[in-house]
Amino acid sequence: KRALILVGGYGTRLRPLTLSRPKPLIEFANKPILLHQIEALLQAGVTEVILAVSYRAKEMEVELTREAKKLGVNLVFSHETEPLGTAGPLALAKEILLKSDEPFFVLNSDICAIFISPISAEGTIVVTKVEEPSKYGVVVYDKNNCIQSFIEKPQEFISNKINAGIYILNPSVLNRIQLRPTSIEKEVFPFMAADNQLYAFELNGFWMDIGQPRDFLTGMCLYLKHLSSFGSLELAKGPGIVGNVLMDPTAKVGMNCQIGPNVTIGPGVVIEDGVCIKRSTILRDAIVRSNSWLDSCIVGWKCSVGKWVRIEGTTVLGEDVIVKDEIYINGGQVLPHKSITTSFPKPQIIM
Ligand code: GDD
Ligand code: MG
Repeated sequence: KRALILVGGYGTRLRPLTLSRPKPLIEFANKPILLHQIEALLQAGVTEVILAVSYRAKEMEVELTREAKKLGVNLVFSHETEPLGTAGPLALAKEILLKSDEPFFVLNSDICAIFISPISAEGTIVVTKVEEPSKYGVVVYDKNNCIQSFIEKPQEFISNKINAGIYILNPSVLNRIQLRPTSIEKEVFPFMAADNQLYAFELNGFWMDIGQPRDFLTGMCLYLKHLSSFGSLELAKGPGIVGNVLMDPTAKVGMNCQIGPNVTIGPGVVIEDGVCIKRSTILRDAIVRSNSWLDSCIVGWKCSVGKWVRIEGTTVLGEDVIVKDEIYINGGQVLPHKSITTSFPKPQIIM
């Protein structure tokens, strides 16, 4: 079985992290986002994954080829010379997709979900329920799960069932797509729905679009909860650990800390004594000095957070940011390689 993952977007909503690394390579719960998807696809029986890439392809190719080998999945890169949207990449990869007449999976790259393989009409899209449907593609379907309408980012409320960004498509769908920049949500699905060729599959597990810092953190909490629900041994235990925490074995934590609930700590991270961290992700090789207090933030790779610092309010520190001692940051988005010497009590982009 094959799957195609759409990895072409710029990931602007996940800045400043995406200034240093392409979004699919950013670690969510200590693992590149894309690997979560590849592992889920492997479980659904997929053996070949096509990555539809349109920018920063080289970086991804080097890192992912190595990881894919370990997992035993065949990775194929399909390069776009211009961004082809969410449908065009299917036309570009047509030859590979038509190697067999089986249905194939299509996935958005910024979603994180645990899913199983549902049945397919001409197309099946995985749907889930959300509170703010206007940010998504909204679907209306009948009691047989046949979709009557698909409307991308509707202004008015129609339904709270949305497109989760996971599709199972028959090769015949390729006849509806031309090789040019095309949106599958606006130019393909509405027409398949009108032909009664599109079905909804309701997702029961958890689902999250983690393309924005706020949702990234909420998604992390859900993911850790999911790990604990089946008693995963990956979760950290020990003095100072509170609730669900994921910690790389190479990370070091000092005395009298409170780590958790809902914290992910990457490889090589150093946490000094008396630090309190809640609801946050600390990426690889960052250091947090003694007595600092972090809540709801993402600390980028190789950052250095000083002593007695307080950071909160969905703050994101880009790669290699230095925060001096005793600083307060609330809701800041700090660009990479910046040194912070004054406090920022109000949400803002710090450059
Ligand atoms: N290869 C390639 N080329 N991929 C692209 C391109 C392109 O030109 N443009 C976008 N993509 C990829 C993005 O990287 C992402 O994985 C996916 O297509 C969807 O684009 P987003 O920019 O993330 O769209 P969205 O989040 O606003 O909405 C989409 O996802 C929602 C679920 O999270 C839509 O599919 C909605 O209908 C859906 O509800
Ligand atoms: Mg998205």
